Amino acid sequence: MRKKFIAGNWKMNTTSVTSKDLLSGLVSGLSDEILEKVDVVVCPPFTSLATTNEVIKNKKIGIGAQNIHQKDEGAYTGEISAPMIKSLNCGYVILGHSERRQYFGETNHLINAKIKNALKYGIKPILCVGETLDERENNMHMKIVDDQVTLCLKDLTKEDMKNVIIAYEPVWAIGTGKTATPDMANEMHIIIRQALENIFGKDTADSTRILYGGSMNDKNAAELLAKPDIDGGLIGGAALKADNFIKIIQSAY
Ligand code: 13P
Repeated sequence: MRKKFIAGNWKMNTTSVTSKDLLSGLVSGLSDEILEKVDVVVCPPFTSLATTNEVIKNKKIGIGAQNIHQKDEGAYTGEISAPMIKSLNCGYVILGHSERRQYFGETNHLINAKIKNALKYGIKPILCVGETLDERENNMHMKIVDDQVTLCLKDLTKEDMKNVIIAYEPVWAIGTGKTATPDMANEMHIIIRQALENIFGKDTADSTRILYGGSMNDKNAAELLAKPDIDGGLIGGAALKADNFIKIIQSAY
């Protein structure tokens, strides 16, 4: 059984001050019992990671960053490395998000290097994959996603894969209010699981958690999460309100 996993990607929202309210809402609304049933992770901006540590204290809520550089340290002005986020208790990092691919030119090759660096520091990557509308309309979505999985996970071992989470995020569904239907999403999760089986074998394919992301909210989460191959969600906009995020978590068990 794959334990459900719900992560909030706050993107470039909240300051170190305003993140406190959101985090406090999560801490008071999420009982230890709920946090045993579902893996919950918050991914605030770097500047709120210290505050996140203070507010969530001993609660079983994981902390993730939204990006890292592929190198450990050096003259890379403005960049943040794996050991830096590790020192702020980040157990996770989102890598390969379509916004990083689209606006910052990240390629599958670069994402592969970042994944390897995260794993080197014991940080679990949440690898995002997904097709654009154009790619779907040209019936290329399956091939695009298969390539993303294959190239981003290049040279990883089965052992590495125990620490990798995948998020299927169709670009056309992100921030648009257009969600993939549960059947469409599940179909793509099966494609991803098949790609994993081709590379790493059935055990890895069966045990890797594949999340759905793209306009997931408290209204549509239950239906999506009921699908056999959807193991959780990577939530953007709806993770910015504690009540909404908690409702999504509650629909995961
Ligand atoms: P939205 O939930 O705002 O569509 O964002 C999804 C996403 O990109 C999560 O990484």
